[in-house]
Amino acid sequence: MLQNLLSVSDLKRAELEHILNVADDIAEDPARYGQVANGKILATLFFEPSTRTRLSFESAMLRLGGSVIGFSDVSSSSTTKGESAEDTAMIVSCYSDIMAVRHPQMFTPHKMAKVAAVPVINAGDGANEHPTQTLTDLLTIQNRFGRLDNLTIGLCGDLKYGRTVHSLAKVLGRYPGNRFVFIAPDELSMPQDVIDALEESKNIGVSYTINQSLEGAIQTLDVLYMTRIQGERFEDKSAYERLRGVYVLDCAKMALASRDMIVMHPLPRVDEIDTEVDSDPRAWYFKQAQMGVYVRMALIIHLLGLNTMPREDVIYVASKKYKIG
Ligand code: NCD
Repeated sequence: MLQNLLSVSDLKRAELEHILNVADDIAEDPARYGQVANGKILATLFFEPSTRTRLSFESAMLRLGGSVIGFSDVSSSSTTKGESAEDTAMIVSCYSDIMAVRHPQMFTPHKMAKVAAVPVINAGDGANEHPTQTLTDLLTIQNRFGRLDNLTIGLCGDLKYGRTVHSLAKVLGRYPGNRFVFIAPDELSMPQDVIDALEESKNIGVSYTINQSLEGAIQTLDVLYMTRIQGERFEDKSAYERLRGVYVLDCAKMALASRDMIVMHPLPRVDEIDTEVDSDPRAWYFKQAQMGVYVRMALIIHLLGLNTMPREDVIYVASKKYKIG
């Protein structure tokens, strides 16, 4: 049973699908879950800026009937006095039942989890991973296509520093028949560890291609996952200035895509999706952000081992949900 969520690799397939099923159930009837975390406290420790992730974690805990403490600005924490992340984790363990940590340095949530007495959720560690965004993305894809396999997924933009695409590719790479198209300039290409993980899935029909042209790739896609060029992670700011704006999705490019494709984006967007695309029914990025609350509610329930009442009109067979009647 999962104790922390630090990497998508921590999630076994059955556990992942269970969390998605619970999230799906919550989405149908959130009020049924309104008391399940009564008396529990979530700490959100955000050493790096965030809007969606922190607020959706807080909203998730409040919607479960729990409470929230934490900081959203490192300058208001004792880190500025020189406290280590590990010491912060030990202290916050005394004040909370679970913590969500975002940190600019890779693997800091992992170090904190080693000493914390409560479950630690990685809410984004540097350019490494963002597992709860991936749960959000999977729920969105499942909702739209009814499956997580045999899809063609275009990942576009900053594949080097974008942590969401690392986690997403690692998980979707475990599902048979998924085909990835990496749409990125050479300088921002997918890191080798993700490529290696996909290579290991060749035997289940997983493949990837590289196509630097968004126009050239878009026709083939079921999912187009756009990302922001991660300016804050560039050592060479002039490279950022050169690469920003390299991909812009607009209505002219959308006209080349399948009518069944969806556009996703973890947000925030800068200029990579023209706002004129927002009214296209294939633009799913705002729905995707809504899913973030449901999956975080499901994850908190799972990590805290909270009791939920089974629904009377639903039966579960091998962790799949079927409606009766
Ligand atoms: C992403 C992140 O923080 O990695 N945002 C988010 O959590 N939804 C994407 C980004 O910042 O570009």
